[in-house]
Amino acid sequence: MPTPARKLLIAGNWKMNKNASEGVELTADIVGEVGTETSVGIVLCPPFTALESVGRTIGDSNLQLGAQDMSAESAGAYTGEVSAEMLRNLFCTFVIVGHSERRQLFHEDDALINRKVRAALANNLRPIVCLGETLDHREEGSTEKIIDHQVRTCLAGIEPEQADQLVLAYEPVWAIGTGRTATPEMAQEVHAQIRGLLHEQFGAERAERIRILYGGSMKAENAAELLAQPDVDGGLIGGASLAARTFVPIVRAAIAETG
Ligand code: 13P
Repeated sequence: MPTPARKLLIAGNWKMNKNASEGVELTADIVGEVGTETSVGIVLCPPFTALESVGRTIGDSNLQLGAQDMSAESAGAYTGEVSAEMLRNLFCTFVIVGHSERRQLFHEDDALINRKVRAALANNLRPIVCLGETLDHREEGSTEKIIDHQVRTCLAGIEPEQADQLVLAYEPVWAIGTGRTATPEMAQEVHAQIRGLLHEQFGAERAERIRILYGGSMKAENAAELLAQPDVDGGLIGGASLAARTFVPIVRAAIAETG
């Protein structure tokens, strides 16, 4: 459940799904159902190729646009990369940084993710910084240590004045796309740990304003109990964000929690 300082945020990470016209169709459906909603934040993160058309479909509704990744560099000879400035130019507000699929499949490490977080903030983009342990980590009892290292390294050098722009997302790797969800208690335990680290770095007042999302097989059936946890401030949704009939009920669960 959010404190008054934190508005719940539900973000859809479409991953490598939906071409531009499919993206427009999905966005129009979501806008039609919850486009005027103001009590929770709603963010759509389509692939780069659909950003412009999805952004246009979002129009002046209350939804916001996010990208799934960005370069740590600002411009130049980096074939295939997309800069923060390019994303701002397409009216992105958010950018997902350090998703576990980027870490595992594209070998991104905490140091690179830290550079991306800094580049996002320098360009007025709000990074959604992803953290999470693997199944091996959890089984060997090193979840706390891994999260500690990820938070400290990914947020190194970020100043307290920039903290209000940050969003974090705890996504246990073993829960992503597997149908296995962290129990609400497991999620809360890690979210509370992350909150404590944010207190250390940014001070209590600012740390209490930063949203920490949960991601990993979140769906309508489990959203309410996850969102009821004191330090779970929203969701980063993969599979269930690909259709309005599965995404909108999660948004509605967040609205009910706020209500
Ligand atoms: P699923 O909701 O498909 O488990 O994906 C979670 C995720 O990785 C969101 O970024």
